[in-house]
Amino acid sequence: MPEAATGGATDSTAFDDAELLSPEALRDLQLTRMRASLRHAYDHVPFYRAAFDRAGVRPEDCRTLGDLARFPFTVKDDLRAQYPFGMFAVPKEEVRRLHASSGTTGRPTVVGYTERDLAHWADVVARSIRAAGGRPGHTIHIAYGYGLFTGGLGAHYGAERLGCTVVPASGGMTGRQVQIIQDFRPEIIMVTPSYMLTLLDEFERRGIDPRSTSLKVGIFGAEPWTEQMRREIEERFAIDAVDIYGLSEVMGPGVAQECVETKDGLHIWEDHFYPEVVDPVTGEVLPDGEHGELVFTSLTKEAMPVVRYRTRDLTRLLPGTARPAFRRMEKITGRCDDMIILRGVNLFPAQIEEIVLRTPGVAPHFQLRLTREGRMDHLTVRAEARPDAGPEARAAAVGLIARGVKEGIGVSVAVEIVDPETLERSVGKIKRIVDARPRDPA
Ligand code: DLL
Repeated sequence: MPEAATGGATDSTAFDDAELLSPEALRDLQLTRMRASLRHAYDHVPFYRAAFDRAGVRPEDCRTLGDLARFPFTVKDDLRAQYPFGMFAVPKEEVRRLHASSGTTGRPTVVGYTERDLAHWADVVARSIRAAGGRPGHTIHIAYGYGLFTGGLGAHYGAERLGCTVVPASGGMTGRQVQIIQDFRPEIIMVTPSYMLTLLDEFERRGIDPRSTSLKVGIFGAEPWTEQMRREIEERFAIDAVDIYGLSEVMGPGVAQECVETKDGLHIWEDHFYPEVVDPVTGEVLPDGEHGELVFTSLTKEAMPVVRYRTRDLTRLLPGTARPAFRRMEKITGRCDDMIILRGVNLFPAQIEEIVLRTPGVAPHFQLRLTREGRMDHLTVRAEARPDAGPEARAAAVGLIARGVKEGIGVSVAVEIVDPETLERSVGKIKRIVDARPRDPA
């Protein structure tokens, strides 16, 4: 446990006021804010007015938190259809910043922030970094991309808000990142877990022991990662690895954060973001503890309030631990749209990650390649050998991974162990699935 983290739950100076609310006080605050936010959306965004009217609900119909279920969902395509500024609830002059999602297909989605939104965002990211073990005076190396992506700038202002020294490294130029970490001696790094592995390779290539750096804590997010990956990164770097979650439509990084003293899922900063978990098919609200799709309603956002925004992320809600007022979300297991249906069996990249990372002789780099032969879909797991793995270890790994998938997930896959350093490395969010199937005729 790093020195930074030892304050943890017993150091009350490490909490802000909202973190100390009683559950009842939090529910009261949420209801007041929810009603105001629904009213703000209805009065200022024609899209929401039309959607509420169609569903036959008015903002004042929200009398309890449970009443939110009567309001319509918002999905990514709704935001796309309003490109660029149709979802904004304030005049353009009051929007201080814009971000946008890269949008792999079609138009990107654009999000906007007022000055107050930016202040709230910095507050929740500062709270997140503190929960991860960060303290004023620490140096934080930020290797999330800066730019329209929310990762870099979102982390940046939160770290400054907490009183840290920020190194705005952004993504890429891996050699220089390693040099800067050696020279500036940060305690904390914020980066995608997949890019952390790219940095790991670079440390080793330079003959630097990754366990010898000044780093004590890594705050990893923007993509799914497993407990096995946590163990791999913690052991290889001798750091604590904690999870940060967020999405641009709701704010950016800092919607939820794992506490370093418990590492048991992510506390959702519920004073700003109200979570629900729904059945991804029927949309029915599920009780806490059940798995489904995460949905968020913003409680304080001015420039772009979101009402029941469907994240496509799959998880479940659990009671708070290190921050008892706030519920936790379990580590994300996958996204609805990342699910591979292979001959009728549902499979997520995270399940393969668990199997690959526990296999001796295999590096934590893998790719999933989908092909079609005749009418049948096939999946090939391509994983990289560790440099010291000889032909026998590689052959054994093929068997172990294939058997692990067959027994654990219930489907047959092909496995290919490729040479070290042959799979493409991540500089930001990693793309695990390569879909080489012929496109269906339209
Ligand atoms: O990825 C914001 C972010 C930046 C979060 C840096 C954490 C750190 P988007 O580009 O809009 O925003 O992508 C959001 O990324 O719906 C999830 O599918 C995925 N995601 C984000 N954090 C996690 C996480 C940023 N900790 C989408 N675990 C989300 C799993 C995550 N998936």
